[in-house]
Amino acid sequence: MEPNLPVILSLVLISGIAVGVAIGFLLKKKRPAIRRGAIVISASTVSGRGAFATENIKDGAIIERCPAIEVSDRDIGGELVNYVFYGNYETARLVVMGYGMLFNHSSTPNVAYYREETSLGPEMVLYALRNIRKGEELYYNYGEEWWTTRQ
Ligand SMILES: C[S@@+](CC[C@H](N)C(=O)[O-])C[C@H]1O[C@@H](n2cnc3c(N)ncnc32)[C@H](O)[C@@H]1O
Repeated sequence: MEPNLPVILSLVLISGIAVGVAIGFLLKKKRPAIRRGAIVISASTVSGRGAFATENIKDGAIIERCPAIEVSDRDIGGELVNYVFYGNYETARLVVMGYGMLFNHSSTPNVAYYREETSLGPEMVLYALRNIRKGEELYYNYGEEWWTTRQ
């Protein structure tokens, strides 16, 4: 029987695609979570992504120091409105880098924050309000105004 070239080529092509998809799937599954200090971002039980403790954190410990930039609310639009903090004057907004903008809200938070002025600009310092166990989701309180000014 003569080898059927088109059939062989199709089989080679299909096998190549299948192997490519399988490798892509494995690589995606193996991609390590990005950790910063004692925090990892992972799926939250309350909304989308959230921040989780990768180790036990002691009451009062600083969890992250986030460099921040203060901008006018005119610079913040769309979904970004839900990620920024209030700044030092009424229309000021703080864009907090690192993982600082990704924490979800709780009315019984385990994290709080304060603003610190440094020679390089403002920083948002996130610290533990109580002992936090490894694996717990980290929450700060967005404050009442945050929720009343959004739907
Ligand atoms: C700063 S983001 C927090 C990270 C967000 N979960 C994400 O996946 O990007 C703020 C948004 O998260 C959601 N969120 C935060 N805390 C929540 C909560 N306790 N219940 C419901 N939604 C919450 C709201 O949609 C809010 O607009």
